[in-house]
Amino acid sequence: MKPKVFVTRVIPDAGLNRVKQFCDADIWPEDMPPPYESLIQRVKGVEGLLCLLTDRIDANLMDAAGPQLKVISQMAVGYDNIDIAAAQARGIRVGNTPGVLTEATADLTWALLLAAARRIVEGVQYIRDGKWRTWEPKALLGADLSGATLGIIGLGRIGKAVARRAAGFNLSLLAYSPSLTSEEAAEVSARRVELHELLRESDFVSLHCPLNPETRHLINRNTLAMMRPTAILINTARGGIVDQRALYDALRNGVIGGAALDVTDPEPLPLDDPLLTLPNVTIVPHIGSASKWTRDQMAMMAADNLIAGLKDEPLPNQVRR
Ligand code: NAP
Ligand code: GLV
Repeated sequence: MKPKVFVTRVIPDAGLNRVKQFCDADIWPEDMPPPYESLIQRVKGVEGLLCLLTDRIDANLMDAAGPQLKVISQMAVGYDNIDIAAAQARGIRVGNTPGVLTEATADLTWALLLAAARRIVEGVQYIRDGKWRTWEPKALLGADLSGATLGIIGLGRIGKAVARRAAGFNLSLLAYSPSLTSEEAAEVSARRVELHELLRESDFVSLHCPLNPETRHLINRNTLAMMRPTAILINTARGGIVDQRALYDALRNGVIGGAALDVTDPEPLPLDDPLLTLPNVTIVPHIGSASKWTRDQMAMMAADNLIAGLKDEPLPNQVRR
């Protein structure tokens, strides 16, 4: 008999077909994620769960599933939606999908950085509003990249891929993460500095750390006040790393110059969120890993983690704390 699993959304066929081949799969068919109560119902009796970052996977849910639950496989690298300690306490292994989405997310980071620096979204709107009458010497002036400084908070896989892309733009690089050494930073031509120095000296600040209790609201009123009044904040990590109310005030009052966000808190951002009223913020709907190849790879990796867990084999990518 095939092991019973619940898959919380229709994922790319590249991964879903592997899951269906090996498992008796119950697949949530809707575009929207299963509400928490439905999730609780559907996991009862499963041995495996393939989930997304939109699903809250907590101790209560693990207990509702039952003691036969062996593996939780997340189709994402970030796993802040999963209570890892609760999983470990119950002997449930957790898998994620690092690496395959690094380049796509670094690309999107640069797309946002460039869009914010050169006011691309404002330019598009300018045309649509019928304001483009001539070549204007002083309209839509943006920030120069060449000679500027980019500060990377969290020089891990994605942070390093972002750093490598900087060479072509003649940017200086600063980097901060807790266990980063100067030597490791130098491998991507960055200088290791403390957080406050990075915030003070950067023209662009890009976030690439995980969301956890230490990094929640790492960017807050105090840290925003350390940044340059022209600085642009880019967030392709997690919305909760930024205190969004403080960000709104900082953007509105000229404490910093602009922001470009792939992630918000909450997601989706409500249409009446004040951030959406500001011209100096660019927001896209959490599309860092959204390329065809990348999503196929993520789906396959999530399927492989799930199947390995069901077979009691080592997961290709297991989350360890
Ligand atoms: P990673 O390789 O684990 O890198 C994370 C880095 O953050 C590490 O260098 C880590 O440093 C650092 N870090 C940890 N705590 C920190 C803190 N308090 N302050 C500053 N830096 C800290 O992970 P990754 O694959 O690059 O992914 C990073 C994050 O990006 C994920 O957790 C996810 O939330 C997000 N993400 C978003 C998208 C998207 O679609 N927008 C796509 C993929 C990933 P230490 O080694 O010193 O702990
Ligand atoms: C996306 O946000 C991920 O963590 O993979």
